[in-house]
Amino acid sequence: MENKIILIYKSSTGFTKKYAEMIAKEIDCTLADYKTASSETMSDYDTVIFGTRAHAGRIDGYKKIRELFQKSTSGKFVLFVTGASPDTAGDTLEAFWSQNLSAEELAEIPHFYMPAGLCYEKMSLPDKLMMKMAAAVMKRSIKKKPDKTEQDLAVERMISSSYDISDKTYIKPLLSFLKKTNADCS
Ligand SMILES: Cc1cc2nc3c(=O)[nH]c(=O)nc-3n(C[C@H](O)[C@H](O)[C@H](O)COP(=O)(O)O)c2cc1C
Repeated sequence: MENKIILIYKSSTGFTKKYAEMIAKEIDCTLADYKTASSETMSDYDTVIFGTRAHAGRIDGYKKIRELFQKSTSGKFVLFVTGASPDTAGDTLEAFWSQNLSAEELAEIPHFYMPAGLCYEKMSLPDKLMMKMAAAVMKRSIKKKPDKTEQDLAVERMISSSYDISDKTYIKPLLSFLKKTNADCS
């Protein structure tokens, strides 16, 4: 049975779009920008994948897209989030998911994190100011720590300037999940 997939992405500085395009090269899917998303369009597809960024601890645009999905007749919702953090596992990431998704959503929605980076050059002015402030707070708190970990030092180095840690390997868990679901459908 065919699983028609639409991948809707919300991208401000290009990382999520880049991941969306990497995924679209590997699977048969329609790419769509967040701005054009509607429940009518979603209803034409069996699966909706939503890709977006982490934004001050939140999943940017999630509420709107989830509501549109719930109004649609599409059957499956999959989520991926890109961010500045290099960690693909651990307590911080677990806390991020549980702050944003209910227990029911955590169980029901396959969710994936993809390390991306920061691009100060393409950030909006409010985002740039927010990020500079967050970087200063983070740097101060790291400075105060008596035992700095390797990770603290890496964050300290990275956060004030642009960097790109996106990599094709980070889309693999999502692709494996989709392959498995397709195999289950046929
Ligand atoms: C104001 C602001 C807040 C951010 N907050 C987080 C965050 O809480 N966690 C994280 O990992 N990355 C955070 N980031 C980094 C973005 O999630 C990251 O750069 C993302 O890949 C951007 O995606 P885009 O290029 O598709 O917009 C933040 C970036 C900005 C500008």
